[in-house]
Amino acid sequence: MSLDSKEFGLVFAQQLTGLEDLHYGYWDDSVPDTSVVYMKQAQQRYTDQLIDTLEHHGKPSMRVLDVGCGTGAVLEALSERGHQVDGVIPAPHLEKQVRGRVHRRGLDSQVWGCTMEALPVSSIERRYDAVLFSESFQYIPYSVALDHAWELLKPGGVVLICDFFKTEHSGDGKPGDRSFGGGHKYHGFLDWLGTSEWRCVQNDDITAYTSPNIRLLDELLTQRLAPAASTLNTFLSSRHPWMLALFKRLFRKKLRKLEYKYLSGHRSQAVFERYKTYRRLVLIKPE
Ligand SMILES: C[S@@+](CC[C@H](N)C(=O)[O-])C[C@H]1O[C@@H](n2cnc3c(N)ncnc32)[C@H](O)[C@@H]1O
Repeated sequence: MSLDSKEFGLVFAQQLTGLEDLHYGYWDDSVPDTSVVYMKQAQQRYTDQLIDTLEHHGKPSMRVLDVGCGTGAVLEALSERGHQVDGVIPAPHLEKQVRGRVHRRGLDSQVWGCTMEALPVSSIERRYDAVLFSESFQYIPYSVALDHAWELLKPGGVVLICDFFKTEHSGDGKPGDRSFGGGHKYHGFLDWLGTSEWRCVQNDDITAYTSPNIRLLDELLTQRLAPAASTLNTFLSSRHPWMLALFKRLFRKKLRKLEYKYLSGHRSQAVFERYKTYRRLVLIKPE
């Protein structure tokens, strides 16, 4: 099975941390401290706020489509709360995990191993009460994501998007501008939404609750990974200097890019907050 670079990042991070969830933590007052020790708790809090939001706008027992369902952890949590949940997952390594989870827990869930764009919406007969995009919205062209959601939802159905977008500062060329990829342009998206038939009933800025993840990751990279990489560099340059020189020459551009992106100190919480806005958006398909 081959991994593309997006999937590699997700699978690598999951294997490195051993965490089941692939989404950010939600660092509100219920989490004692913003430290890696509480990462799992903060991620659980993130999942809880997703489910609470869906239930607030939906009903106690819903049929939900979880788009880009990662390892299936949110799908399982929703099922435990009495919802019937199907998943869309384009990454084969993650799809295997989702199917394993569905089988182990005996869940009545259909899993589609494809992108949202490739989902055969017109041949899917069941209609959903809710469609969830938990940190998957940024990967899908939004008109396709929401056109497909529209077809799949019952009248009155709910879309919950929890993800970050690019702010108006994006592309200003200031230090850190290129440090974080991802996200649709927020204002472009809102303009598009305004011309659509969707009714936007909730739009919260939750950047402050999610950006502490960036600080934690930055600390991990600069205080742990950078010193470890430097030790490896010293070791290899004394033992295998030719091999190291060749490696550095071959991957010069890639290494420079990685160094700028992860180790130059530009990937800070403040930079994230300047260039990204993390939103919790609820859209309703009118009756
Ligand atoms: C950051 S992970 C979030 C996973 C999960 N929703 C969660 O909250 O833990 C992003 C997910 O989006 C999925 N994804 C990426 N591109 C997608 C696409 N075009 N259609 C559907 N899902 C996609 C990835 O495979 C991955 O599962």
